[in-house]
Amino acid sequence: MRGVVLAGGLGTRLHPLTKVTNKHLLPIYDKPMIYYPIEALTNAGIKEIMVVTGGNNAGDFLRLLGNGKDFGLSRIHYAYQEGEGGIAEALGLAESFAEGRPICVVLGDNIIEKNIIRAVDEYRQQGGGARIMLKEVPDPERFGVPVFEGDRVTGIEEKPKSPRSSYAVIGIYMYDSRVFDIIHGLSPSERGELEITDVNNDYIRAGTMQWSVLDGWWTDAGTIESLLKAGNLVAKTGANKRK
Ligand code: G1P
Repeated sequence: MRGVVLAGGLGTRLHPLTKVTNKHLLPIYDKPMIYYPIEALTNAGIKEIMVVTGGNNAGDFLRLLGNGKDFGLSRIHYAYQEGEGGIAEALGLAESFAEGRPICVVLGDNIIEKNIIRAVDEYRQQGGGARIMLKEVPDPERFGVPVFEGDRVTGIEEKPKSPRSSYAVIGIYMYDSRVFDIIHGLSPSERGELEITDVNNDYIRAGTMQWSVLDGWWTDAGTIESLLKAGNLVAKTGANKRK
């Protein structure tokens, strides 16, 4: 299994913090944001990692992360997303890196308390398809929200005004190589981007999507409020615990 961290975008919800730098280089307590998703992957035993970045200051990732020594890696792969084509377009840039193998994708602004190794193992055992991770949240309307029939997820609604469950689809996804065929067939959403939720709904329609509930806290860090929350959570309990 290979790992992909998506760290592009303009971070406009964080202006003026992101006017001259990339969101994923901002601090979360004592480390730059990008450290956390990389650690989430290495803790789960995933050692071949690509960082997809974009926008301003993309070169700073190379200076900061180098060959991944801080994470016990001997190299990190990089790709550059031109423009604002969305999360699924950014993921499409990892196609040749994946070389047909399954991948675990982590959004660069998602911070977690615990280890995802159990979900990764469950994905390995499911034999192909995809796996999403869910977390109960007080504000599901800010996220992708699963729709349930019994314990089956029948669809995901992106930022619904009236959420049909109290879960968020967090930014950690596991896919087989079909993900790239799906991305090639996507059309841009109303906001002009290729949406990761459209990718996930394709797997759901095909009946090959499974889900896990995340253990421990989770937050994104893409707004001023969630950036502060992430820093406070990390200061209080630490992130990416080994167990
Ligand atoms: C993205 C996804 C959304 C997901 C969220 C998790 O939203 O589109 O489905 O719940 O990440 O962080 P964004 O934060 O890019 O608006």
